Amino acid sequence: MIERNITKIAENVYWVGARDWNRRLFDALISLPKGTAYNAYLIMSRNGKALIDTVNPGFEKELEEKIRSLTSPEEIDYVIMNHAEPDHAGAIPHMLRVAPKAKLVTTSRGEKMARVFYNVPQERIKVVGENETISLGDKTLRFIEAPMLHWPETMFTYLEEDKILFPCDFFGSHLAGGVYSDEVEDLLVHAQRYWGEIMMPFRAMAQKALQKIANLEVRIIAPSHGPIHRKPELILNAYNRWAAGETRPKATIAYVSMWNSTDAIVRQMAETLATEGIELAFHNLAMTDVGDLAKDLVDSRAIVLGAPTVLGGAHPLAVYTTYLFKALRPPTRFAVLLSSYGWGGGAIKHIQELLGQFKIEVVGTLEINGPPTEENMRQIVNIGRALAKKIREEA
Ligand SMILES: Cc1cc2nc3c(=O)[nH]c(=O)nc-3n(C[C@H](O)[C@H](O)[C@H](O)COP(=O)(O)O)c2cc1C
Ligand SMILES: [Fe+2]
Ligand SMILES: [Fe+2]
Repeated sequence: MIERNITKIAENVYWVGARDWNRRLFDALISLPKGTAYNAYLIMSRNGKALIDTVNPGFEKELEEKIRSLTSPEEIDYVIMNHAEPDHAGAIPHMLRVAPKAKLVTTSRGEKMARVFYNVPQERIKVVGENETISLGDKTLRFIEAPMLHWPETMFTYLEEDKILFPCDFFGSHLAGGVYSDEVEDLLVHAQRYWGEIMMPFRAMAQKALQKIANLEVRIIAPSHGPIHRKPELILNAYNRWAAGETRPKATIAYVSMWNSTDAIVRQMAETLATEGIELAFHNLAMTDVGDLAKDLVDSRAIVLGAPTVLGGAHPLAVYTTYLFKALRPPTRFAVLLSSYGWGGGAIKHIQELLGQFKIEVVGTLEINGPPTEENMRQIVNIGRALAKKIREEA
């Protein structure tokens, strides 16, 4: 048998996941600059053994071999499905085949998903409710419902004796490398990016889950992507800030320009905001990364959207971004909309229509005809100063 790389995170608690170094795209949407890891954990005790989550399809054998180097899969009593998404549940059919006596443990909402997505027979599913426990002998698993983080069936598993929280996607980051988060220099950058893409739309549910675990003694947080948090306060503090929608004196600029007219007024806006001491994230939508943009929206107090008119509406890249902005539901308070047009115009009206009921204060708009005039540049400075004032006053 091949010698496997297993990390022991506590007595009889092992990481048996897979590192996907080459993965560069997630959900056909999000880029993964540093790959990702699908973390699965094996807990072994006197009277039972449990596997917490599995791995992405394609890594079944790797998971099985890692488990085999510790125990025979036939001895597994429970496969805990904290989340039904295939990156963690995709190897469930394989595991249930090699672990014939194992029951799949899930929430009531996960039960149907296990049947629909993975054809798990009813008699092999064990549904657990809020605070229910399963004893493995010396180790007790407690289940905490955490719905809509980020699917309806999601739950956390808490290992009482070792005080380890297994929250699946929550507290995760897409990093293939690293064992412990306190050893990863840019951990919070990746965790923030992950939060922006996956968890930010569910801030209210995240706050509920954070309240639920606030009184729980947690020594280790072992998520299902990226490094393990053995100093949980670092990630807990960040999550509390992000879930509360705390922003910084920061503006995200997201724009596109074909012939540099919108570009000229956007850069004048950036100059003004920078001079006013506002932190800036500058995204040219023709070349930016959506994950970076999502990360910046997590703590930006304002957004500046810039788009020329194309075929009677806003440039398609700005349409896409406005849609995404709305869907991600960032805590952004203020907006400025900038545009250039050739004849009829309409980009700003289009963006405002797309924003619809989204709660945001539009501090200023400017739609110029062709390239900017001196007067346009002065108008931008004024709008920029007004926005900077709003951003500072909000603190
Ligand atoms: C493919 C294309 C389609 C356009 N469609 C419109 C339009 O429907 N209405 C309009 O007012 N201007 C239209 N324009 C003109 C641009 O809005 C105008 O050139 C503007 O100044 C470009 O701003 P930019 O330099 O920031 O790209 C179009 C330009 C291009 C290249
Ligand atoms: Fe997920
Ligand atoms: Fe995931």
